[in-house]
Amino acid sequence: MSATGGTPHGPGDPTPTSAEGVTGASGVPGPQAGAGTPGADDQVAHETSPLAGSAADTSVSPAGGPKSSPHSSVTAGSGSAPKRPSVVLGVGGGIAAYKVCDLLRRLTESGHSVRVVPTAAALEFVGAATWAALSGQPVTADPFDNVQEVPHVRIGKGADLVVVAPATANLIAKAAHGLADDLLTNTLLTARCPILFAPAMHTEMWEHPATQANVATLRSRGITVLDPAVGRLTGADTGRGRLPEPSEIFAISQLMLADSAARAAGERVADLTGKHVLISAGGTREHLDPVRYLGNSSSGKQGYALARIAAARGAKVTLVAANSELPDPAGVHVVPVTSTRDLYDEITGRAADADAIVMAAAPADFRPAEFAEHKIKKTDDGAVPAVSLIQNPDILATVAHDRQRDGQVIVGFAAETGDAQHSVLDLGRAKLERKGCDLLVVNDVSGGKVFGSDINEAVILDRDGTALPVPSGSKDALAGVIWNLVATHWH
Ligand code: CTP
Repeated sequence: MSATGGTPHGPGDPTPTSAEGVTGASGVPGPQAGAGTPGADDQVAHETSPLAGSAADTSVSPAGGPKSSPHSSVTAGSGSAPKRPSVVLGVGGGIAAYKVCDLLRRLTESGHSVRVVPTAAALEFVGAATWAALSGQPVTADPFDNVQEVPHVRIGKGADLVVVAPATANLIAKAAHGLADDLLTNTLLTARCPILFAPAMHTEMWEHPATQANVATLRSRGITVLDPAVGRLTGADTGRGRLPEPSEIFAISQLMLADSAARAAGERVADLTGKHVLISAGGTREHLDPVRYLGNSSSGKQGYALARIAAARGAKVTLVAANSELPDPAGVHVVPVTSTRDLYDEITGRAADADAIVMAAAPADFRPAEFAEHKIKKTDDGAVPAVSLIQNPDILATVAHDRQRDGQVIVGFAAETGDAQHSVLDLGRAKLERKGCDLLVVNDVSGGKVFGSDINEAVILDRDGTALPVPSGSKDALAGVIWNLVATHWH
């Protein structure tokens, strides 16, 4: 449509109530040191943000065919003269607009050219000066500003990706119906690149049939609409409606840019579509009494990376997460658990529906034989209570030895140090055999290697006897290689 057809500063996006919480309470206590075994999720120390899992190192395609090139990855803008990806950041009128400043920073600092296009209502929350200063580009909600440059067409046509955050109920409705009464909604109609909506609004607005129908319409057109996160909303209420974490939106944007680069290069993408993958992450806790537990400091980051990458490659993903503080990855069904027995129940109960099971969690091998109903008190005589332990079930060995689905691929992790008689790989091979899985991701953690570091490297042992070294890289990159190998087992 032409600019004259719009209504600059018209009703725009009048949804300041479609806001979300200003606190980031996850409600999950932090990991604590305990008696558990450092497990898969701790084997590879993690980057502090998903930035390290950017398009440049995120595998989104098993290009190269079975086993020939599991490292193959799609690099956005790879080649001799990499193009700076051009991102339009559309900002809707909700309180979560302030969080989008963080997303903007992540995008600009990782080399993207970002044009911020707010709605008029968004500027009530965060002013144009902030967006302009952070992006280094002019900012307006009005298609009549600099009309000689035809911004209502040029901005959308020049974009490699449009990210709308926060996507309010009003903005989603306008996009679903093709309305174009400001610069952002015009841009949404002229863009031919991938579009990502990160909604934020009150639970009632999100759940309203009108919003759900509009979301379904956008998704049916190939637009990615994230589910809002669950948590504290504006005021005292809690529920689904929070803006997904900026780090999550950033990670998804990177994957979408990589995905579209892969399409442009004619490579196969969304190669996990139609598959259901079941992933465990985090460290289990075994309670002694209502307040104390044996646990481990697994962060869950490797399992979350596996979930994020699988979802981005089209899989249906169930993530059984033990005591992780991480935000739910977009598009992933997260099932929280506490103990190894909870994890066992969830994994074995869902195994029959899974095309792949990846045990990235660090389940405690032992639990207290007795659970004290009341807090164990110390006594004046200085006596120390004896804690006897019993063994937990081995989840990986159970699902691997009792396969419930043809063609199911089962992946384990192992952190090994080696010993006087055995190398890390010897122990890894023995564990692969003992557990009965198809792939085992082995980390050498001798001498404190890997723990506490931002880089990881692993060797992936295949039950066919091959060993694939994965060089240092982010957890997203390792996840990409793991999925490439799983995919070769399915073919
Ligand atoms: N694992 C499991 N159930 C357990 C313990 C571990 O499913 N009760 C899984 C982990 O998720 C990981 C793999 O088994 O994928 C290897 O974990 P690890 O702790 O290295 O193995 P253990 O069986 O504990 O072997 P060991 O203590 O002899 O090294």
